[in-house]
Amino acid sequence: MTQEKDLCPLFGTCGGCQYLDIPYERELVLKGENLKSLFKEALPTGEEVFEPVEPSPEALHYRSRLDLTLRKRNNGERQMGFMVPGTQRLQEVSACLLARREINDFLPALKEQAVAKLPDNYRVANLVVRVGEEGKVFWGGIGRRSLRMEEEDYFWVKVRGRKIFYSLDTFFQANHSILEKIVSRIDALVPWKKKTVFLDLYSGVGLFGIALADRAGEVVMIEESTDSVKLAAYNVRHHHLEHVRILEGKVETHLPEVLKEAAGKPCVGLIDPPRGGLAASAVETLVNAGDLKSLFYLSCSPESLVRDLKGLTQTAWRVQKVLPFDFFPRTQHLETLVWLVRT
Ligand SMILES: C[S@@+](CC[C@H](N)C(=O)[O-])C[C@H]1O[C@@H](n2cnc3c(N)ncnc32)[C@H](O)[C@@H]1O
Repeated sequence: MTQEKDLCPLFGTCGGCQYLDIPYERELVLKGENLKSLFKEALPTGEEVFEPVEPSPEALHYRSRLDLTLRKRNNGERQMGFMVPGTQRLQEVSACLLARREINDFLPALKEQAVAKLPDNYRVANLVVRVGEEGKVFWGGIGRRSLRMEEEDYFWVKVRGRKIFYSLDTFFQANHSILEKIVSRIDALVPWKKKTVFLDLYSGVGLFGIALADRAGEVVMIEESTDSVKLAAYNVRHHHLEHVRILEGKVETHLPEVLKEAAGKPCVGLIDPPRGGLAASAVETLVNAGDLKSLFYLSCSPESLVRDLKGLTQTAWRVQKVLPFDFFPRTQHLETLVWLVRT
């Protein structure tokens, strides 16, 4: 019988995978059960709203990005690998079972290049390595502008037949294999009308807004990272999407004005905040946004999701469906899409 250590010698030591020792089907069931109990402890959600966890088409070698630490030890030795969560220990990594194979093939060269580039007075550096759909690998992390890329090198992934460009210095979903599934599911659930205003909030480079742009009369994206806004604008230009607008800054700042402008039009929102979830003022704005009838909340943290849903569902919103998507197979992490409708 195959042991998990045969699959990956780092299992149990690097802190990355928690579910490598059980079949993938079992992992999906466990993740679904955990999510349900978290919801039930905090919210009056009935069993019928939960869908089974949507599996990832790729359950191994799906990560298009790795974050690694390069460290110089007192004895002069250079180590490259993962910091074990909650410790000062660095686990040397020569291959990761979750990383795309092109990244694994590149790791020896990455170490060599990063060691050569590390200034003498640096003891530690955080490295980012990514691979695009054409298999090209780029890395950065040493030097101020090391994550900058030239336009001709931008990574892209095709979703709904449309290339979405991103870069080393922007957020982008690490598991590309599941993106088509989630975008199609959102598309099928949105009650599109010709004049629908689609709000892609915490938009990053515009994955959802760009992929679904043809379905809406108008798209407004709000994103605070300047690097991501630059790529979002590149995506809009590349696809000649004149009805897509990007606002740089915080959702908390721009959303009240955007909602005022959309008053009277059919309006659908998608929020995809970082792990910490929504600011209290964003929850308040969404509660009071009377013209917004349909809201999709995509979250990589079930804990902050449940906290925010408590605020959203007290008076204004009802949970219509909970749709978990396994963006991070073999790990304890789970992405959850919640569809809310106004009460
Ligand atoms: C989880 S990512 C989602 C990005 C995008 N939806 C995607 O799937 O590629 C969250 C994004 O929110 C941005 N962000 C974080 N806090 C924000 C805020 N208060 N207002 C606007 N954007 C924010 C981050 O820069 C990041 O790009």
